[in-house]
Amino acid sequence: MCGIVGYFGKRKASDILVDGLRRLEYRGYDSAGIACVYDGSIDVVKNPGKIRALRERVQQSPLKSIKNATVGIGHTRWATHGQPNEVNAHPHQDVSGHFAMVHNGIIENYKAIRSGLAKHGIECVSETDSEVLVQLIAFCYKGNLEEAVSEALKQVKGTYGIVVMSDHEPDKLVAARCGSPIVLGLGRNETLVASDASAIMPHTRDAVYLEDFDMAVITADGMEMFDLQRAPVNREVMAMDWDAGAAEKGEYAHFMLKEIYEQPSAIRNAIRGRLDFEMGTAVLSGLDFSPRDAAMINRVLVVGCGTSMHAGMVGEYAIEEMAGILAEVEQAAEFRYRNPIITPSDLVVAISQSGETADTLAAVREAKNKGAVVAGICNVVGSTIARETGRGVYLHAGPEIGVASTKAFTCQVSVMLMMALKIARTRRMPLNDGEVLGRWIERMPELVEKVLEQNDAIKAVAQKYAKCDNAFFIGRGYLFPVALEGALKLKEISYIHAEGYHAAELKHGPIALLQKNTPVIALLNDVPGKDKTLGNAEECKARNAPVIAVVSEGDEKIADEFSDVIVVPDCPPCITPVPTAVALQLLAYHIAAARGCEIDQPRNLAKSVTVE
Ligand code: G6P
Repeated sequence: MCGIVGYFGKRKASDILVDGLRRLEYRGYDSAGIACVYDGSIDVVKNPGKIRALRERVQQSPLKSIKNATVGIGHTRWATHGQPNEVNAHPHQDVSGHFAMVHNGIIENYKAIRSGLAKHGIECVSETDSEVLVQLIAFCYKGNLEEAVSEALKQVKGTYGIVVMSDHEPDKLVAARCGSPIVLGLGRNETLVASDASAIMPHTRDAVYLEDFDMAVITADGMEMFDLQRAPVNREVMAMDWDAGAAEKGEYAHFMLKEIYEQPSAIRNAIRGRLDFEMGTAVLSGLDFSPRDAAMINRVLVVGCGTSMHAGMVGEYAIEEMAGILAEVEQAAEFRYRNPIITPSDLVVAISQSGETADTLAAVREAKNKGAVVAGICNVVGSTIARETGRGVYLHAGPEIGVASTKAFTCQVSVMLMMALKIARTRRMPLNDGEVLGRWIERMPELVEKVLEQNDAIKAVAQKYAKCDNAFFIGRGYLFPVALEGALKLKEISYIHAEGYHAAELKHGPIALLQKNTPVIALLNDVPGKDKTLGNAEECKARNAPVIAVVSEGDEKIADEFSDVIVVPDCPPCITPVPTAVALQLLAYHIAAARGCEIDQPRNLAKSVTVE
């Protein structure tokens, strides 16, 4: 979703801002802009569309601030209130033009603030909720920018991550956060500010994450932090461990393809040091409960959104099967508002790649409020969910830039399997079974490598179906969440209407839609119920729908029955989601590539969804 970058230092601000915005492109956006302050005035350049268009305008700009300034702010906007056009793009300015601001989040009481300002003759020019905030800051200004910002923020309901500047105080940037992340990068003689560490990684590794209701004042003397009452606060400086090169796509045509290929190493990183073969268990130090505490857990409730929720479903199956305790998955967005029943013996697991998804964060807060033990499974170190859950497991998958999640999914499944193993070993799972499962988890990178070797064969199948308008994915058991995930991948990046169904559900409605140009991707690997899924695939074939069969290696009998076959390595049912998901990622990727789609930045989608 929206992205923020700000720069205060000695280098040319506009270059650093545009480069930072390019690094935030993956989050999804539809307009972009920058503002720089120099020699007593602020200039803004912004436009709907891509960063490359902004870069050209910035490079050709005759404006002296854009050419010379060493202080500025930039933004990529993902439209919520108002069309993606130039007026609605950020940075926004107040009527006098002396203040400029970029904002992520939603100002819920913007209409009331706008009418209040109108009574003082201040008229907003955009349709956005954001603009009212900069107008309000200007209205509250009495000679000190941070004072004006804190006064204005006290009147705001909703969420914000903001950076503000003013030509009255050109040697200052003020940042603040409530519900929308802000990270500060502390460089040598310069300070950067962003909504996401990838924008500042090339410049520094020392990061400070603001907490809700924190403000940061950045000047030539460095950075100071306050709360909204202007009392000083201290936040830890964290070292960002991601390599800036990991956020470049290198020789690959797309980040998504790069990340698909990174999966063997990403999974190795996710499981490194976390399997104890002697005890037949997993060592997840972030889940700091003792075996005795683990034995007290009565139910595991997994909350997440999108791909993360699908990984959670695999975890649900594994925990119930292995540990023999009740496990449930719930869409995070539903959890908060339906007043769920939570007891102190419930473990709530929030699963989120970004660690910033608003619905998942809201579910975490609700679960904590209801007294549950809450743990996070996140990829982004220092993210809000990781910090608020306090205990949990990092994926160590490295930055995921492609909007369509790939390596995060397989690493999430790896971590969920290790969590299931850890809990199961405090219950009914014998040592020997624990060791066998650990060995299979350890082999997952190798299984993924075998799928990647079949890229050309999968591409050939993809090219055959690239022109279809609809597709169905069916599976059972551990492969049901994979069917959902396969369909999600395809619709996200190729814009083909794709649905994932439990294989048995197809005949309760969707079968009416089958035609000769509606492929059904049937997940027929060796899991319990395979024969029944085979029957369902035959039902599709009998209705002239082409079936792409995903089968386990060595299962030639099935392979002979279908014209298009994708083979994945044979492995135990709980392990199957990982290699199978990788095959479906490649299928979706090659279909989207054949259709000429913008794979890394699909229309309307955002990588990190920070609004409910
Ligand atoms: C967005 C992304 C998805 C992701 C979902 C949840 O919709 O486009 O790829 O699965 O958010 O994100 P999270 O960061 O919480 O895993």
